[in-house]
Amino acid sequence: HPRDLLRAITEEHEHLQALANRHVASAAQFDRDQLLQLFRLAAKYEANPDRFLTPIKPLSGKLLISAFYEPSTRTRLSFESAWHRLGGDIMSITDRTTTGIAKGESLSDVAEMFNNYGDCVVLRDSNEDSVMQMMRSLRIPIINAGNGTDEHPTQAMSDLYTILKWRPALLEEKPEDRIKIGIIGVPRRMRTVRSLLKLLSRFPGMIDEVVVIHDGQDKELYSPQQRERLMKDGLKLRESTDLAAELPELDVVYINAIAWVKDDFEVMGNNLKLNSKSPLKPSAIILHPLARGDELCTSLDDTPHNWYFAQARGAVFMRMALLTCMVQRTEMVMDVL
Ligand code: CP
Repeated sequence: HPRDLLRAITEEHEHLQALANRHVASAAQFDRDQLLQLFRLAAKYEANPDRFLTPIKPLSGKLLISAFYEPSTRTRLSFESAWHRLGGDIMSITDRTTTGIAKGESLSDVAEMFNNYGDCVVLRDSNEDSVMQMMRSLRIPIINAGNGTDEHPTQAMSDLYTILKWRPALLEEKPEDRIKIGIIGVPRRMRTVRSLLKLLSRFPGMIDEVVVIHDGQDKELYSPQQRERLMKDGLKLRESTDLAAELPELDVVYINAIAWVKDDFEVMGNNLKLNSKSPLKPSAIILHPLARGDELCTSLDDTPHNWYFAQARGAVFMRMALLTCMVQRTEMVMDVL
């Protein structure tokens, strides 16, 4: 329950003020204290789901520009749900061909227009440079909701928030309680994983090791310096091609097989699959950012390993916490919740 996580994090919020009007381009921007305080605020929202239906409405009078130039179910709708729940209004773009981009307008010109229309932008685009292009002209904050194969920072926040709700005692960082995390796939090509590894590297004391499990097809598992940087931050990384041998040792199994590349998607690592017969540790949880393919069998949905639906649900509260801080309404909610 989110209340257990609330109890595990000290009640402070001074690091949240620094998020006001800041862009969110990469998971690397967040330090440990800021993340913990965001998780605490998310848990407060999740533990008090009725409070934001009251007249608090911290985003009342604020407008979100929800610009999704690539398909999305969870990210767009959870951001929009979060913004609505906080009392704000939304303008949504779900198809780039209905905008000036179809006529060759640059993203930086579009961003210049966004300054006049809203208070915050959430952008998903298949192009890695899209967020940077918009940031050049934006005077309102932007959140990277997935830029090509580069990053998806708020997904990673939701992933880590889920892990900490599952086991809040990890924050005590007792060496004997450290967990093993398995990542199934190729970190170089998975934006959710690239962001998650950056966040995990802020908490090396709660992780025994991260095992990257791949099918051996892709020789470049990491982007240049990615592995070295993570190791330097204290994350222990190991690689394996033997899923069956690794699974019985893993506490958290993170799987995802779909990557957007240009205007289409690729299915990666589809030799590596999980189902209810997989030799999982009885206490292990499975995380998946979804949408899933046949790498994650629905036979797991009714098992205690299924934390992927909770992961998607928690993303609403995680995004509520972040949005509240970015539009400078932190004090308002901390006083009331
Ligand atoms: N997790 C995630 O990014 O899902 P969507 O593609 O549906 O937004």
